[in-house]
Amino acid sequence: MVGLCVNVDHIATIRQARRGQEPDPVQAAVLVELAGASGITVHLREDRRHIQDRDVELLRRLVKTKLNLEMAATEEMIRIALALKPEMVTLVPERREELTTEGGLDVHGHVDEVGRCVRRLREDGIVVSLFIDPERDQLSAAARAGADFVELHTGSYAEARDYKAQQVELTRLIQSATVGRELSLRINAGHGLDYRNVGPVAAIPEVEELSIGHSIIARAVLVGLERAIHEMLAAMEKDGAGGR
Ligand code: PXP
Repeated sequence: MVGLCVNVDHIATIRQARRGQEPDPVQAAVLVELAGASGITVHLREDRRHIQDRDVELLRRLVKTKLNLEMAATEEMIRIALALKPEMVTLVPERREELTTEGGLDVHGHVDEVGRCVRRLREDGIVVSLFIDPERDQLSAAARAGADFVELHTGSYAEARDYKAQQVELTRLIQSATVGRELSLRINAGHGLDYRNVGPVAAIPEVEELSIGHSIIARAVLVGLERAIHEMLAAMEKDGAGGR
């Protein structure tokens, strides 16, 4: 069964709106795990706009499933990851102006640089995933860089304006998952997934885990975190032919 790694950055975004202590993404992570998620994702950004160093340190001690640290491939972040030792690091591109991670990491254009970073993390026993667009060039570069996993960027699928466009994007994801496995990469996916569009992606046989944040936290504000997670786990099971 495909796993669900929940991104709790959005809880920290609400806290940072007042620069206060509530709501606490660490408390949220405990509830997320109790509700049946397979992991917790946090993105420690260079500008610390939501998740803080204190959060990752506490999460490292508390998370019992899996801590997936999303980060840019910078010296500062590598140092933090090596000290923290999360089970998984997902390397993502990062730009200050963006609202959220926009495109995938350009591994194809920076294979040596990314490869060096992957090696340093893997040597310390950290599983490394690269967040990439579902493209053949990026997949083969990810394999050359020595990554364990790729996380296929599902943003274009999630933003497709109609059913036909969505099917085109779904086909790209399915083909990329097949190509990735042929290259001995393990496959995760995420970005922009919600209760309506998650089924077909969860049904791709190669996909091991989905990383979902915004839609779950948005629903949790109205119905509570436990119910929001249970409903997402149910939506993932429903293989919804067509999504919308
Ligand atoms: N995967 C990665 C690499 C991301 O950067 C994000 C957004 O932080 C997500 C998944 C989750 O995206 P969303 O919040 O749209 O579910």
